[in-house]
Amino acid sequence: MKIVIMGPKGAGKSSIGAVLSRMTGLQTLETDRLIEQLHETRDGHYLSCREIFVEHGEEYFRALERDAAAQAGAKDWHLIITGGSIMLNPDSRRKLRENSLIVYLVAPAQVLWPRATAEGLPPWLIGPDGPQRFEKQVVYRDEVLRPFADVIVDTTEGTPEELAEQVGALINEELAILSRAANTFGEIIRVTTFGESHGPAIGAVLDGVRPGLDISEDIIQRELDRRRPGQSKIVTRRKESDRVHLVSGVFEGKTTGAPVAMIIYNEDQKSSAYEDIRDLFRPGHADFTFYQKYGMRDHRGGGRSSGRETACRVACGAVARELLAKNGVRIVAHAIEIGGIKASACDYDVIETNPVRCADPEAAKAMEEAILAARKDCDSVGGVVQLEILGVPAGLGDPVFGKLDARLASALLTIGATTGVEIGMGFEQTRLRGSQSNDAMADGMFLTNHCGGILGGISTGQPIVMRVGVKPTSSIAKEQRTIDIFGQNQTIVVKGRHDPCIVPRAIPVIETMAALTILDMWEVQARLRPEWGERWGFPGTNES
Ligand SMILES: Cc1cc2nc3c(=O)[nH]c(=O)nc-3n(C[C@H](O)[C@H](O)[C@H](O)COP(=O)(O)O)c2cc1C
Repeated sequence: MKIVIMGPKGAGKSSIGAVLSRMTGLQTLETDRLIEQLHETRDGHYLSCREIFVEHGEEYFRALERDAAAQAGAKDWHLIITGGSIMLNPDSRRKLRENSLIVYLVAPAQVLWPRATAEGLPPWLIGPDGPQRFEKQVVYRDEVLRPFADVIVDTTEGTPEELAEQVGALINEELAILSRAANTFGEIIRVTTFGESHGPAIGAVLDGVRPGLDISEDIIQRELDRRRPGQSKIVTRRKESDRVHLVSGVFEGKTTGAPVAMIIYNEDQKSSAYEDIRDLFRPGHADFTFYQKYGMRDHRGGGRSSGRETACRVACGAVARELLAKNGVRIVAHAIEIGGIKASACDYDVIETNPVRCADPEAAKAMEEAILAARKDCDSVGGVVQLEILGVPAGLGDPVFGKLDARLASALLTIGATTGVEIGMGFEQTRLRGSQSNDAMADGMFLTNHCGGILGGISTGQPIVMRVGVKPTSSIAKEQRTIDIFGQNQTIVVKGRHDPCIVPRAIPVIETMAALTILDMWEVQARLRPEWGERWGFPGTNES
């Protein structure tokens, strides 16, 4: 995240920026200084921006501007100060806007002109009609740039300290909104979900998908049906058809490049079941923490924390999975443990033939019985899901903060009821010696896959193997101790229709989050190394 301060000459960018830099501790970078440095590196002589423009011409100067924008755009935790002309170039603007909060400082041209003259005018504003040309420029740039601003401050009046205070307060508000609205996932393939379990509808917007990809409602519906409630006697009896309505982004079976927007109407929400627990916090659910955060509550189910929200993800994941599958990436998840019963065999063909989605048919039966027994006791059980991502070539992922294992783990932990993630051998690996734990290599390949297909945050080309813990469903019909919103001791029996075990329905969601992460990372990689895009028949992926 960085803060970009833009605005016309005389708007006070440098003086306000200097105070903001002191207030925030962020290092300041002026694109004008970068342009001068870039020129000096190339030419061996220092010239000011104005001198570069006059001596080397506009074309040379604009090329330097673009390079400066690319350098400044790549900075994190910086305060970037830039003039309007850089931001007029769409390419440079895109680079500077990435991961930024844009502050626009502005004032009427009559106020700015005397300040701009005192600072020193650029060559194109010198001459008798300078003030008129300046005014035209300020008005034009205002029309173009205003829509890109997150924070706008009029600097007609006030000292740099007062104005920086004002900008700082608005930035804080903006940051609070950004971090509060954690409803969007992904960098290039971006998923935003909306809706609550007891509202009229839920839905999702999937943005960043390339045009021309085959996709249909049927493909999305097929995935949604796997997660849908009411499929078997071991899942919630809520009867939702989960019929998806594609409202944008697909035309005649192909993506158009527009956001793919999808809506699913809620049909069977029985809000009355929650009337008795209107003021009570359900143990193990998100009621208490949501109430602490927002200071209010909609007692009718989990709202945004409900498992129902994950239907929207699955709808988006279906698009990602389809694209990945066409390019040889297969994602499969299956229950390896439920209610303490462990799978010992692995036959992928049987996973979708039993209600618990286990690859061991014998264990599957025992797991189903464990779930039914828990339900009979008004209780619930948890389990472990194994996720396997096959066909990812070596080289996907980033180092340091963008490690593929970190991104996948984070994506999986966004799913309600997940308690932990193991990669490869996971914690078991900690008990080995290095000589046993290392994946030795010979004949151009790895001899083992203890690391689970990821080293240094980057895929090895081996299957990516992870395990996800899923806790027992918190909403149970057994009496438990709790408190109400007034802090009084109470007891609670959660009615409503809940999954006695979340594992079977979490499996398509786990696959979905893996698919969205891999596709997103693939798109990131295609911008770094165009051949990754071309591998999938995406031309021209090197525009970064
Ligand atoms: C597919 C799916 C279905 C779920 N169904 C239920 C349910 O029926 N009842 C319930 O209490 N929690 C259910 N959950 C879990 C809650 O969403 C989750 O426990 C809650 O958001 C609190 O978050 P946390 O458990 O991650 O802390 C479900 C989760 C998923 C992914």
